Amino acid sequence: MKFLIINGPNLNLLGLREPDIYGKQDYAALCALCRATCAENGIEAELFQSNHEGAIVDAIQQAYGKVDGIVINPAAYTHTSIAILDALKAVGLPAVEVHISDVSQREDFRQISYAGKACIKTYMGLGFEGYRQAILYLKDYLEKK
Ligand code: DQA
Repeated sequence: MKFLIINGPNLNLLGLREPDIYGKQDYAALCALCRATCAENGIEAELFQSNHEGAIVDAIQQAYGKVDGIVINPAAYTHTSIAILDALKAVGLPAVEVHISDVSQREDFRQISYAGKACIKTYMGLGFEGYRQAILYLKDYLEKK
């Protein structure tokens, strides 16, 4: 089983970026957690981070036929990107959405998730733990399929 784990804009600045909201741990620590969770569960992990919408669309398209599922935190593109939603729908891979913060309790402009419309499940407000739960949920989902 292989997963692609996608992180969108500004998540490369975790640790530095608004630590009261996103925590003090950096992106390398997030990658380590995702890799460890995957390794412990016999999953091959590919990690991808980009600040560019088109690059994320390309990564989703290129995942077709190569991975079994996607874990995605589209960051700010969550709330704006129909292109990422369309890419997820186009490849038809099961995808789980993650947000470090609880976006449901934040500004009005964060209340829409386009990517979430193509995802089987969303984790928010759990910090990095949301990624661990997303990986486990996706594995369970694929095993039951
Ligand atoms: C985020 C929430 C988004 O609203 C924000 O733009 C981000 C991070 C989160 O993980 O909580 O960049 O996706």
